[in-house]
Amino acid sequence: MREFKILAIVIFFTAVVYWGVEPFAHSQMHPHVAPADFTFKDLGASTKVGNATKGAETFLSAGCTGCHGISSANMPAPMDNASASATFGVVPPDLSTAGAIYDKNFLAALIKDPTKALKVEHKFNETRPHPMI
Ligand code: HEC
Repeated sequence: MREFKILAIVIFFTAVVYWGVEPFAHSQMHPHVAPADFTFKDLGASTKVGNATKGAETFLSAGCTGCHGISSANMPAPMDNASASATFGVVPPDLSTAGAIYDKNFLAALIKDPTKALKVEHKFNETRPHPMI
């Protein structure tokens, strides 16, 4: 009988944690965001026409190279992965293939407002800014 009571108590607390605490903690730490549809309509279409030469100049002058490397253009990342990870909490990716892999609307929106484009507004704000300026 005693073992049965102990079992009942263990089951009770396990159930409280499983159905009560865990879903609440999950909703706080990983709030639901609309899934990406990979057309990025929600970010607004960019009507701007690209200019590769100007973009390359801007890339150098706007400070992107302070965090990102472009190994295909012989521009190594300014920090090794361990230091970058310690500084930003994430390693800024090498952007050699950026033009090929990112959607144009997403890329424009990301440069303008990384927190919004990446749907991490629940994690970063004025007091805790996103690592990418
Ligand atoms: C202060 C450091 C810093 C600077 C300056 C910076 N970035 Fe970033 N960038 C990051 C970090 C950190 C990430 C990774 C964010 C993540 O994965 O959550 C990132 C991610 C990216 C990504 C990939 C996003 C994705 O979802 O895969 C692109 C593209 C990018 N940056 C472009 C740029 C451009 C263009 C500039 C210059 C206008 C720039 N970055 C300047 C730190 C920086």
